[in-house]
Amino acid sequence: MHEGGSSVPVVTRFFESADVAAVHRWFNNQRAVASLMEQRAEFTLEQAEGWVERAVGSDGEDRKFAITIEGHDQPVGFTALYGLFRQTAPELGVMVGDDIAARGVGREAERQTVVRAFNDYGAHKVYGRIPTDNEAAQRAVAWMGWKHEGTMREHLRRPEGDLVGCEIWGVTRSDWVARWGDGAA
Ligand SMILES: CC(C)(COP(=O)(O)OP(=O)(O)OC[C@H]1O[C@@H](n2cnc3c(N)ncnc32)[C@H](O)[C@@H]1OP(=O)(O)O)[C@@H](O)C(=O)NCCC(=O)NCCS
Repeated sequence: MHEGGSSVPVVTRFFESADVAAVHRWFNNQRAVASLMEQRAEFTLEQAEGWVERAVGSDGEDRKFAITIEGHDQPVGFTALYGLFRQTAPELGVMVGDDIAARGVGREAERQTVVRAFNDYGAHKVYGRIPTDNEAAQRAVAWMGWKHEGTMREHLRRPEGDLVGCEIWGVTRSDWVARWGDGAA
């Protein structure tokens, strides 16, 4: 296991225009998108181009990072920080969009992204919304030292009509230092 508990080294980096094919592939991977907060009816190549163009531009309140691992020419997923530079804490997003054999890649990419939030973007806290049925995502943030702060009941209405709760998780700077040590944030 590597520093952050992944079975292979993980590098997160800014997006490049060449990442369009990867982004298009992830959002058409039904396994990967099924556990997201919201599901899109379709995700075309044109939409992928727009998504990457916005990610590369990164001049607003959001930042997105491509997750790369050895043995894969293209990134296998992404992390995101939404709503930076505000009085409210930014939200973390993550998706490992390819079906990879390595374990813990998502949580290690999340860890690196939270470090960026605290160290590069001056966040005082990071939070996340996780469907109650997404156990992998809950375990990943719990492992990072996040706390479950509450649950919004029947918050998500799935396209087929199922009502699913939405958990709120968060990590303060002092939670982070308690988990990862002085100098971590
Ligand atoms: C959530 C996600 C980033 C986690 O990535 P990861 O850390 O690489 O995940 P892993 O598959 O290595 O599993 C992490 C933990 O969850 C557990 N887990 C994995 N899949 C699981 C499942 N279907 N049910 C229950 N537990 C599961 C693993 O055993 C592991 O537990 P551990 O902490 O005891 O070792 C990844 O699953 C993902 O991208 N999913 C699709 C998109 C998504 O759901 N994003 C979050 C939206 S809120």
